[in-house]
Amino acid sequence: MSDRPAILGGVPLRTRDYPSWPIWDEGDRQRITTVLESGGWWDGDGDLARTFATRFADLQGARHGHAMTNGTHTLEAALWACGVGDGDEVIVPGMTFVASATAVVAVGAVPVLVDVEAESLNIDPAAAEAAITERTRAIIAVHVAGVAADLDALVALCQRRGLHLIEDCAHAHGTTWHGRGVGSWGSFGSFSMQHGKLMTAGEGGALITNDEALHERAWMYANCGREPGRWFYHHAVAGSNLRMTEWQGAILLGQLERFPEQHRIRNANAIDLGEALLEVPGLRPQRRDPRMESSGSYCFVFHIDRSEFANMPLRTFEAALAAEGIPMSVSYPAMNTLELFRSGAFAPRLRQPDARLAWAGRSLPVAEHLADSTVWLAHRLLLADREEVLDVARAARRIHRHARAIATM
Ligand SMILES: Cc1ncc(COP(=O)(O)O)c(C=O)c1O
Repeated sequence: MSDRPAILGGVPLRTRDYPSWPIWDEGDRQRITTVLESGGWWDGDGDLARTFATRFADLQGARHGHAMTNGTHTLEAALWACGVGDGDEVIVPGMTFVASATAVVAVGAVPVLVDVEAESLNIDPAAAEAAITERTRAIIAVHVAGVAADLDALVALCQRRGLHLIEDCAHAHGTTWHGRGVGSWGSFGSFSMQHGKLMTAGEGGALITNDEALHERAWMYANCGREPGRWFYHHAVAGSNLRMTEWQGAILLGQLERFPEQHRIRNANAIDLGEALLEVPGLRPQRRDPRMESSGSYCFVFHIDRSEFANMPLRTFEAALAAEGIPMSVSYPAMNTLELFRSGAFAPRLRQPDARLAWAGRSLPVAEHLADSTVWLAHRLLLADREEVLDVARAARRIHRHARAIATM
């Protein structure tokens, strides 16, 4: 068989697709039908969403769990429950999805973007510490692509400086740190169950905590400002409605049942793929901290030194890999480069007049470099057999062999 890369007209290395996502079965259909016929479509008349939240919290090693609308609202509820509001500052990493920062804006506070670690892509604890001011109330740590941030350093920093640590675990279902789930280390752990995530109901979120008082406050916010156990139309605070439906609960209970086995397969394949990629000149996987036993792998991320690939643009490398039949995702842009933050357009939602000045114009060299030098693969490929997963490395090697021709096509 010719070694010609598919992007140059050759036969793709892979002709069979990887497993599709999401995965469901007859049990899901039955649970959905039961919800339909019972008429208990919201959590006031059913217990599927609540049961899911409790079981999910247990999976991640936390005492309490709330099922919510999505992983943006879970962050908002966490911030509100921690008392973050007007004029406060929250430190947010520069390499994440926009929601990690816009949730901060939603509660009236200012997101202060800081740089990340070059190898793990996660928030740099030293950069976070350097950004603390007298207005700082919390640090949001994102476990990017399922790889845990340095929780030892972040927990110690937050304890020392009297800050809340909110773990944004939207990518990290199942990730463990020192043997305990992420999300259970900070004041809150926030998870997304949106369509592309490792556990999904199309949309959805879960907020977990070990703190009884924070648990109660988050519940109040998510339940129209009610207080637990009081009259339905007693509203103690200005909350919102962030409740998950029973439809979502029904689907997520099925996802949860399948999760441990899927997690085991994804984690083992991610480790093997990382090792195989190290054999390709110019490639190395996102660094996995040895204190993290297993990773949720929302995406599989690897670094590329493009000088080993005839300096082809990142988008060309991604297109060449996709042409070989590898399902791709894409890196986020560095958050400081988003128009929303560059233009200060987020600031009018804030009352504090100098909010836009907190970090506007600051560059985040590491995050900016990563946006142009990391390749993100869709997690569904990690559910295939090991040999099929290793096709990623074979495809990368083929691209490497023909890098000059691809770069000049
Ligand atoms: C890191 C991160 N935080 C928060 C969210 C928001 O989750 P959702 O889409 O469920 O609102 C996402 C979603 O992609 C995410 O990737």
